[in-house]
Amino acid sequence: MPEKDWMAFMQETLSPERIKHSLGVVDVAVSLAEFYDEDPAHARLAGITHDLAREMRPADMLAEALTRKLPMERVERQAPILLHGPIEASRLAEDGLHDPDILQAVRLHTTGAPGMGKLAQIIFVADAIEPGREYPGVEELREVSRQGLRTAVATCLKSQLTHLIATGQLIHPRSLATYNSFI
Ligand SMILES: [Fe+2]
Ligand SMILES: [Fe+2]
Repeated sequence: MPEKDWMAFMQETLSPERIKHSLGVVDVAVSLAEFYDEDPAHARLAGITHDLAREMRPADMLAEALTRKLPMERVERQAPILLHGPIEASRLAEDGLHDPDILQAVRLHTTGAPGMGKLAQIIFVADAIEPGREYPGVEELREVSRQGLRTAVATCLKSQLTHLIATGQLIHPRSLATYNSFI
């Protein structure tokens, strides 16, 4: 069976804005992979696929996660959007994409995880700083992104957690655990 054309599939599946975002993540992830000595082809594929489930309706995400028996915490039931990474990783594995680093990067790109590998760290950072992202402090994050990968992850998380608290949103316990392990 020929390998699936994930780029074409992503472009058929997502909205124009999300395609632009995902292509931005690909660009940044590939350049970070080259900088940090990680496989750029893996970074590209993880960037293309990371948000494939992002545009499902929240109710469908919950149903899909239940069907797939994905681990869920209270925050995920309240904010099912947090499930789009784990759902997509599960679908990709079913669809013949078996690279463990890519699957981990897709699964963890929203929260991170304390033990996540280099590719997952790269996608986590690229997702936060791709050229389409505009929020206070993003320029600083772009600079920090090349001052050490773990520092970059910690700084992106600090910015995300600060924003979540300031806007009264739920925080996934894994995001906090990741922050604590990366600072
Ligand atoms: Fe996402
Ligand atoms: Fe994303």
